[in-house]
Amino acid sequence: MFRDVSSCNTYNYGDALYWDARYVAEQGGAFDWYQRYSSLRPFVRKYVPTSARVLMVGCGNALMSEDMIEDGYEDVMNIDISSVAIEVMRRKYELVPQLKYMQMDVRDMSCFPDESFDSIIDKGTLDSLMCGSDAPISSARMLGEVSRLLKAGGTYMLITYGDPTVRMPHVNRPVYNWKIELYVIPRPDFNSPAGCSSMKSYLEPVPTTEKGFLPPDFVLEDPDCHFIYVCKKMDESKICTHPSFKS
Ligand SMILES: C[S@@+](CC[C@H](N)C(=O)[O-])C[C@H]1O[C@@H](n2cnc3c(N)ncnc32)[C@H](O)[C@@H]1O
Repeated sequence: MFRDVSSCNTYNYGDALYWDARYVAEQGGAFDWYQRYSSLRPFVRKYVPTSARVLMVGCGNALMSEDMIEDGYEDVMNIDISSVAIEVMRRKYELVPQLKYMQMDVRDMSCFPDESFDSIIDKGTLDSLMCGSDAPISSARMLGEVSRLLKAGGTYMLITYGDPTVRMPHVNRPVYNWKIELYVIPRPDFNSPAGCSSMKSYLEPVPTTEKGFLPPDFVLEDPDCHFIYVCKKMDESKICTHPSFKS
């Protein structure tokens, strides 16, 4: 399996103690990694019905779930390995019944039965696990749990800095049976170079090769862009098996 440590720098993002210390230092503040809900809204509204039962994995102290509720979502369960983050968020949203918070390791979500959720959203959490010492095992455990918890036809939306060469080998495994669409979005503060205006709409899925990689001639306008992998769990009962005809 590929391991991408290019953005891990010196912090141990795979370690719960690192996150607890960070959330203590942030003193109850809020921070959204990568993108705010306002930029992600077109994708979330396209793939996640407002009536969906949603699981936000590794919610941290982000405003994303609150913003979704304000936009009409009715049921967002949030989990995080950091008890500090969960305590802060639980207190903050104690009067918002649509938001629930539980301290949990995304690699073991056994307190939820199979097929509990219509949609699972991950903004930066698989990325954190990929920085841990046992990254390949952790990511396989996490994605196995995500697959187990998704209803057939449900979607896992992964928002990440990881390009397809380092993420597809993890998400595009036959055992999950996910149909994957890929989007590329610029960082919120990215300005196109002057005079270089692109006609590309980032609201359209990008073409990928058979292995799920970007075609060799694909140009990333923002080299530090973010990627959205929309992974739809296919309904196994509807897989067409052709009858074999024997003479
Ligand atoms: C990069 S932050 C992203 C936070 C939030 N999703 C956002 O968009 O701002 C990664 C989060 O994953 C959490 N995390 C790391 N490892 C985890 C694990 N094994 N299980 C659950 N959460 C984990 C961290 O505590 C942290 O809140």
